[in-house]
Amino acid sequence: MHALGIDIGGSGMKAAPVDVATGTFVTDRLKIATPRPAVPDAVADVVKQLTTSFSWSGPVGITFPGVVTDGVTRTAANLDPSWIGTDAGTLFAKATGDQVRVLNDADAAGVAEMTFGAGIGQRGTVLMLTFGTGIGSALFTQGILVPNTEFGHIEIRGHDAETRASERAKELGDLSWGKWAGRVDEYLQHIEALLSPHLIIVGGGISKEADKWVPRLTGIRARIVPAVLLNNAGIVGAAMATSAAVSAAPDTSGATGTAADSLRLFLIEPGGRPRAGHS
Ligand code: BGC
Repeated sequence: MHALGIDIGGSGMKAAPVDVATGTFVTDRLKIATPRPAVPDAVADVVKQLTTSFSWSGPVGITFPGVVTDGVTRTAANLDPSWIGTDAGTLFAKATGDQVRVLNDADAAGVAEMTFGAGIGQRGTVLMLTFGTGIGSALFTQGILVPNTEFGHIEIRGHDAETRASERAKELGDLSWGKWAGRVDEYLQHIEALLSPHLIIVGGGISKEADKWVPRLTGIRARIVPAVLLNNAGIVGAAMATSAAVSAAPDTSGATGTAADSLRLFLIEPGGRPRAGHS
């Protein structure tokens, strides 16, 4: 089972066809710079370019760095504000001519890590955080995702947390590893007070250099581990979200709303078999 995963970021848009049973890329990924300004039509053009480059026809999963409900993008902290209220699902389906599913970027990365990476077999409360242009979050309990959490925007010292503790904040402020890790530690202490996760998975590009900062996060009870899929998690999770194995999982939630909204991303065992999320 293959699906194309596309990860829309503030600086680059990355894509690869993914074998969703193994979480691996079928061919090398491609990256195209995010257009500036990153308005919907310009981004849709790049989505089209990426699908064409792979001569792709089939399911496409696309991450977005903001809240997504029913395929509609609701926030755009680090992209053009014209995304707010855009029906991204319809826009991208038109651009590609394919079946498309759009979801939050950290949610996608979290689903991939829970299935193929640092979260395998973790049934308690798990929080995945991605440190990049912003801070993204994905919250799991018993392996089931609560979509669209936005814990990068909690307030710390009167500021939006991601403006103090994202990778970009480190770059903009030219912060040392020690200084930045101190800010991340403070941020995680707030998060821990609110959620008491058993495990925190830290991802995003900067997780490549986890040895420089993760050992400095000493104020937290929860176990903290770096992401395993690094920056590929978004692509893998996007592909998984659109794949038949995920949408075929039974809805036992009793909740109203579309599948895309409730995002019943039941995790898939490596091997492709959907597993019930609440054993
Ligand atoms: C957005 C989140 C996103 C995160 C990482 C934040 O600014 O609000 O939705 O997951 O950045 O891209």
